[in-house]
Amino acid sequence: MEIITAVRGFKDILPPETDKWRYIEGKAHDVFSAFGFREIRIPILEKTELFRRGIGESTDIVEKEMYTFTDRGEESLTLRPEATASVIRAYIEHALHAAEPVTKLYAIGPMFRRERPQKGRYRQFNQIDVEILGPDDPHIDAELLVMVIHFLRSVGLSSLNLEINSLGCEKCRPGFREAIVSFLRGREEELCGDCRRRLSTNPLRIFDCKVEPCREVMTQAPRMTDFVCEDCRRHFETLQQNLEQFQIAYQVNPKMVRGLDYYTRTTFEVTTEHLGAQNAVLGGGRYDHLVRDLGGPDISGIGFAIGLERMASLIPEPDAKTSPGPLLFIAALGDKALQEAFLLCNRLRLKGILAETDYTGRSLKSQMKRADKLNTAFTVILGEKELVEKRALLRNMRQSTQEEIGLDDIEETILKLAR
Ligand code: HAM
Repeated sequence: MEIITAVRGFKDILPPETDKWRYIEGKAHDVFSAFGFREIRIPILEKTELFRRGIGESTDIVEKEMYTFTDRGEESLTLRPEATASVIRAYIEHALHAAEPVTKLYAIGPMFRRERPQKGRYRQFNQIDVEILGPDDPHIDAELLVMVIHFLRSVGLSSLNLEINSLGCEKCRPGFREAIVSFLRGREEELCGDCRRRLSTNPLRIFDCKVEPCREVMTQAPRMTDFVCEDCRRHFETLQQNLEQFQIAYQVNPKMVRGLDYYTRTTFEVTTEHLGAQNAVLGGGRYDHLVRDLGGPDISGIGFAIGLERMASLIPEPDAKTSPGPLLFIAALGDKALQEAFLLCNRLRLKGILAETDYTGRSLKSQMKRADKLNTAFTVILGEKELVEKRALLRNMRQSTQEEIGLDDIEETILKLAR
């Protein structure tokens, strides 16, 4: 019969890959807690309006990448393409701002964007999303980046590039936008179709276009750094000084505009050459008006999201031989031995001991092969004869030695090995 495969761009995460994910998530819980963050769990489905208003009508995500459908109640719903808008919705809806002047939250889970699948780019992907809501002080930006770098180091990634930029604010960005539009006026033919459209909808996004002629044109385009107002300049400088306090290396990349419309002032990405075209492991920035634009109070925010697939792909596969296998494998020969193995194996598991057995009745040789493959520390060999004589053979797999042990106190003997 024809098999049913996963949907294109939707990926199964299999073991041992899942071990890496648990490792990364575990580190995230530890590091983020030390910086005062609490976990929030938000729904996967939201009202479409949330993303239209939050991410921006003229972004690629909202224009062409959302999984949107009308449900049976005639409501337009969307599988979340990112977590920030949802976190802010929850923050406003539950008035979390009333409890604390600064709220630090993180969320882990799948996001959905109908992009063209390729290496490192999927239609369902997973993010660790981190947000700080509170004042717009640049120390908060620095604190967040200190945590980012500490987190990357703690999962074993220390040679990645941190790029930062300032996108200005409501006061100074319009001037920059105008400068881009007038720079490109008369050069429309050199741009791709998408960028010609962006010229009137979202000209800053042209910096992000991967089409070669557009990139060429934009090398000479004006830079936001030349347009930032005094407040934004000071904010950006304080951030940089504080990164230096912690010896955090960074590059200012004035062409980094990010793909979501809510950003103001600080934006950042962490990239690596090892990921090919999809080189961003994480990205984020400040959003001083998103809470207000979603109907909440005038509270600033800053955050970032890590792509879990990309981060996991940078961490080496755990070596099967070095990862700890079961403490015990029980090789059972014959029906009675199999029943005995079932009892012993599960009694040990109930006591927290990782034990394995084999119910297939295969030859001793193939069971020992399996024990070896599992990287078991000890094997117990149980045959019909041993059962009658109330004894078993205990083999130390690392030292290739074996001894006879009594069956009556076998559980005790194995538990001692675990201590
Ligand atoms: P973003 O840059 O769209 O930002 O995504 C963050 C990260 O998610 C990327 O750097 C990448 O690692 C991963 N990612 C994005 N799209 C895909 C994909 N199709 N396949 C695999 N991985 C992907 C945001 O989502 C913002 N919400 C971040 C943020 C939080 N800004 C402020 N707070």
